[in-house]
Amino acid sequence: MLQLAALTLLCIVKWIYQLIPPEKSRIPSPGSCLLILLTLAFEHDKLQKLELLSEFYFYYGLFKFDGKIYILNPRLAQQAIYKLEKGAKHYLENSPLKNTFLGSSQKSPETRRAIASLFRKTSIDERATIMMSDIQKMCEQFRSGPSGVVNVTEWTLRMALDIVGHVLFELDFHGLELKQEKLISAMTTISHRCYALGEVTSDSKEFLDANVQIDDITCMVLEEALNIDDGTIKGKRLVKSLHDACGFTEAKDNMKLFLMAGTETTAATIPVVMSLLVKYPTVQDELRQEAEELLESLMADPTTPLPKIESVLSEVLRLYPIAPFISRQNYEPVNLGDIKLDQHTDVIIFTWGIHRNPHFWEKSREFVPFRFLNTSKTSGNMYIPFGAGSRVCIGQHLAWLELRLAIALLLFQFKFEHAPETPELRFGVDWTHAVVHPDKDMVFRISPTQNDTCVLKSLNR
Ligand code: HEM
Ligand SMILES: *[C@@H]1O[C@H](CO)[C@@H](O)[C@H](O)[C@H]1NC(C)=O
Ligand SMILES: *[C@@H]1O[C@H](CO)[C@@H](O)[C@H](O)[C@H]1NC(C)=O
Repeated sequence: MLQLAALTLLCIVKWIYQLIPPEKSRIPSPGSCLLILLTLAFEHDKLQKLELLSEFYFYYGLFKFDGKIYILNPRLAQQAIYKLEKGAKHYLENSPLKNTFLGSSQKSPETRRAIASLFRKTSIDERATIMMSDIQKMCEQFRSGPSGVVNVTEWTLRMALDIVGHVLFELDFHGLELKQEKLISAMTTISHRCYALGEVTSDSKEFLDANVQIDDITCMVLEEALNIDDGTIKGKRLVKSLHDACGFTEAKDNMKLFLMAGTETTAATIPVVMSLLVKYPTVQDELRQEAEELLESLMADPTTPLPKIESVLSEVLRLYPIAPFISRQNYEPVNLGDIKLDQHTDVIIFTWGIHRNPHFWEKSREFVPFRFLNTSKTSGNMYIPFGAGSRVCIGQHLAWLELRLAIALLLFQFKFEHAPETPELRFGVDWTHAVVHPDKDMVFRISPTQNDTCVLKSLNR
């Protein structure tokens, strides 16, 4: 009741506020009344508060909250992305990713050069067949499971881990063969339980143990990989290039980065896509039809366009950007539009707010599955699920190929339905690494389709 009143009041205040012309050289921030209303309406849900403030301060293009500046305007976002730096002093303090090249770009130019070619679209496309056979391995696990209910969160995490292993490291992690319990449990402890859900703190024993666990496993994997004779492999493996470029410790730390960034993100996206396809079964059917029509072409050429599947994926990453913001800092005074930033400010380019803003998008809060069939991409920085500029997501081609192929192969073989255990779609935010995860494991009822899977036999390795 109180919550509803607060929401209504917020709407009215927002409407009045929009009639007042903004003072462009000031950074607005919510006063104590507004903060109280926000807390009444959304309790501790910071993401929802920020989303509402994004509408509130739309005409300013930015606002201040909790000591940070949030940017909503694509033009200001452009300036922030190009003028500001990534990685301040306390960035990623307790995180296992602290010493990786996620920090300042000046810190590790050799590492960047060593890996750039591997992530190019053509290099990634060459590895599509390996990716498909990993996806197919997951599908076989679905088929052989005991009941019709599958834990899609768990399986996509294992699949994404194996894909990163095969595609980036040319190593077998055997996650889908249930052989990485320790690594998977350590990654889940750190990214879900600690950073996204706050169930354990970053100074707890569990967290520290998980951190050591990930470090030990990565060390072991790197040592093994360095001893493998590369006779059959074209070019050098990533791990060797990394090792030659920056030595053992940095190579190991960056392997952790690829492991975590490459696994968490795609593994969080697929359950969200499936959750929506279960909620909108006719959309699921339409996508399945597309998969049926195009599967053979896709097997022959994995870059075959899948217009509907791609539109739905784009829309999912618009409405629920798995990376909900991009963070930057300034080290010296700098101008963003008419705003002068003093020394050291935390700046957040607020993807979540930009993607869901009614001023930019029709039906901004609705899932419009085929929106992107018409929207011939989008102008400026209105749509930035993978970031932009020189620090754009290095794994975006890998992620996109993996997501397209996984959705097509899964829908070709299975129908997904709501089960009594299926949770509602809600998110926990990892503010440190800028990732959102569904707050519960996504489980669905699945049943095999009538489709003839002969065409997939070539994928069984
Ligand atoms: C749906 C999947 C994914 C999304 C939405 C996503 C999104 C992003 C975003 C928004 C950034 C930050 C850009 C910035 O700060 O300007 C980023 C950076 C990064 N991503 Fe991804 N990503 C995804 C998948 C992947 C995958 C599969 C990898 C594979 C290794 C990966 C590796 C990285 C790395 C290493 C960076 C840091 C790049 C740098 O600092 O220069 N990501 N990603
Ligand atoms: C899904 O799998 C994970 C990992 O095995 C497990 O910890 C979790 O309890 C499962 N969730 C559900 C809802 O079954
Ligand atoms: C796409 O555009 C066509 C023609 O302009 C229109 O009929 C159709 O409804 C649009 N589809 C969507 C999903 O907006």
